[in-house]
Amino acid sequence: MANGKTVSDSSLLQTLFNLWPYMWPTGRPDLKMRVVWAAVYLLVSKFVLLLVPYFFKWSTDALNGKMDLAGKVPDLFVGATALVIAYNLTRLIQLGLNQLRDALFASVGQHAVRQLAYKTFVHMHELSLRFHLERKTGGLSRVIERGTKGIETIVRFTILNSVPTLIEFLLTAVIFWWGYGFSYLAVTAFTVWAYIWFTIRASDWRIAIRRTMNDSDTDANTKAIDSLLNFETVKYFGNEEMEARRFDRSMERYEKAATDVWTSLGWLNFGQGVIFGLGTTVMLILSALAVQRGEQTVGDFVFVNAMLLQLSVPLNFIGFVYREIRQGLTDIEQMFDLLEVKAEVMDAPDAEPLDIKQGAISFKDVHFSYDPARPILKGISFEVPAGKTVAVVGPSGAGKSTLSRLLYRFYDIQSGSVSVDGQDIRTVTQKSLRSAIGMVPQDTVLFNDTVAYNVRYGRPSATDAEVKAAAEIAQIAHFIDLLPEGFDTKVGERGLKLSGGEKQRVAIARTVLKAPPILILDEATSALDTTTERDIQTALDVVSKNRTTLVIAHRLSTVIGADEIIVLKSGEIAERGTHAALLQKNGLYASMWNRQREATQAEEHLKQVREKDDMGVVNRLAPAT
Ligand SMILES: Nc1ncnc2c1ncn2[C@@H]1O[C@H](COP(=O)(O)OP(=O)(O)O)[C@@H](O)[C@H]1O
Ligand SMILES: [Mg+2]
Repeated sequence: MANGKTVSDSSLLQTLFNLWPYMWPTGRPDLKMRVVWAAVYLLVSKFVLLLVPYFFKWSTDALNGKMDLAGKVPDLFVGATALVIAYNLTRLIQLGLNQLRDALFASVGQHAVRQLAYKTFVHMHELSLRFHLERKTGGLSRVIERGTKGIETIVRFTILNSVPTLIEFLLTAVIFWWGYGFSYLAVTAFTVWAYIWFTIRASDWRIAIRRTMNDSDTDANTKAIDSLLNFETVKYFGNEEMEARRFDRSMERYEKAATDVWTSLGWLNFGQGVIFGLGTTVMLILSALAVQRGEQTVGDFVFVNAMLLQLSVPLNFIGFVYREIRQGLTDIEQMFDLLEVKAEVMDAPDAEPLDIKQGAISFKDVHFSYDPARPILKGISFEVPAGKTVAVVGPSGAGKSTLSRLLYRFYDIQSGSVSVDGQDIRTVTQKSLRSAIGMVPQDTVLFNDTVAYNVRYGRPSATDAEVKAAAEIAQIAHFIDLLPEGFDTKVGERGLKLSGGEKQRVAIARTVLKAPPILILDEATSALDTTTERDIQTALDVVSKNRTTLVIAHRLSTVIGADEIIVLKSGEIAERGTHAALLQKNGLYASMWNRQREATQAEEHLKQVREKDDMGVVNRLAPAT
């Protein structure tokens, strides 16, 4: 539905204007030729169409003996039979030309659809993380899907339907004027105008009714599903009757709206019939009187009727076409709106590629908030010297992951600076910056493809041997060998067929392939049990060797070896130092450490007990996370 937006004529023109470059694509002379030929066929077919009533008229006159054909038309057409054949032949030719036109134009329209879909898709990836976090991905793909369908609609109904109808109407008007006088033109024009005016008014009214119908349909559906989902609850409280009444009330609204949709269609059709019927009656009376006066032949009378009947065919579709165009415009507008959204983070005009030497990271007095009302980082300064490892720990929500998003430049900071090898990341290109950093996130999402595809994603040009080697380093090669199809096993949507630990190791393997100078590990092991964690930790230690590494961790046991540990709390650095120094300080870190050690000991103890009870088997069969 039109989303409550009214679509004016100017927006139709604007949309056609926006679409024009896609309909007349530069660098595609073949498509341009198709447009030209489609236009030629369109015109020719309309002229041929107008011949149809003429042949009808000539046949009638010939049958009446009112027509002296000799010398007027080629010999072939002489005789009523020949004229009847010609009449039907013209109709066939006209039909053929129309099909040719549609076929020619199809590839132009489809090319436009593909170009716009491509452009929108690329644009989606250019937009910032914030945009994507705030929009539902499903919603976005629906906008693209509807938008591309809207293009087809607009192309089909304006270029292939409305414009030809307009041409046909103009030609008809000219023929009436030229052949029968101004009054015929006036009546036709007035009838068509009244017809279109009425159709548009009635369609607007019907669009609103349809919306009510769709809404109540959705409402009834939701209620039914919700009620069935709560099957048990309904039984617990014996509320079947109440549920049925609730459902029935929604259906009652639907019943009324659906009835209205049909009645209104009846009114629309009837109104159209009345208007067109009046117009035809007036025209035929005019013609009949002229025949009586001897100014016109019976052939003329038949001609006028045939012309009007012919004109009524496209007019019949106008209500439908209008509705489709309106819907198409809304859908296309939404897609164009999407294309106009500017990316939040953009390369500076004079941005240069990052000149990476060893990948030293430096945060200087960084202040940042996602939302101005709530500061997240309040003056953070720290450095990760080239090749060293710095760990950031702290309670959940302290702003640890935010640090990694800032280093990737998903967001720009409000004040301070983030730099890599002495270059402020706002002065370099995003592409070069991101290619220098490898990230192993907490929740790895995989592409719905094979294991090999997902590992190779780190460097698409990698050979099979390199992919295998990366898997070895990430400690996942052994697991992959056990899979029935090895590297060619499909991982399922978002990687659901792999356990958390397995997905994590795939993520590590692809980072190994990328081989970046800088590595960020954002709670890469926190969701795993201790045994899996130890395996992955081994993998991570290998990968982070000689790389500048920022480790964000929840479990402190994984950061003991870091060159510096930063304790972040509510966006501020509460403590910093090595593991030993922080323990000695006996502050926040020390208390976190003690708490976690107790928890780990309890876990180990529980595990031993379970293994004794043989319960371990059950546990080991369960997924790791
Ligand atoms: N995209 C976002 N928009 C608004 N607030 C956010 C966004 N991402 C995170 N936050 C908020 O910022 C704070 C720090 O988040 P984060 O850095 O992810 O914490 P953590 O230390 O647990 O990794 C949290 O309170 C979170 O609610
Ligand atoms: Mg986090």
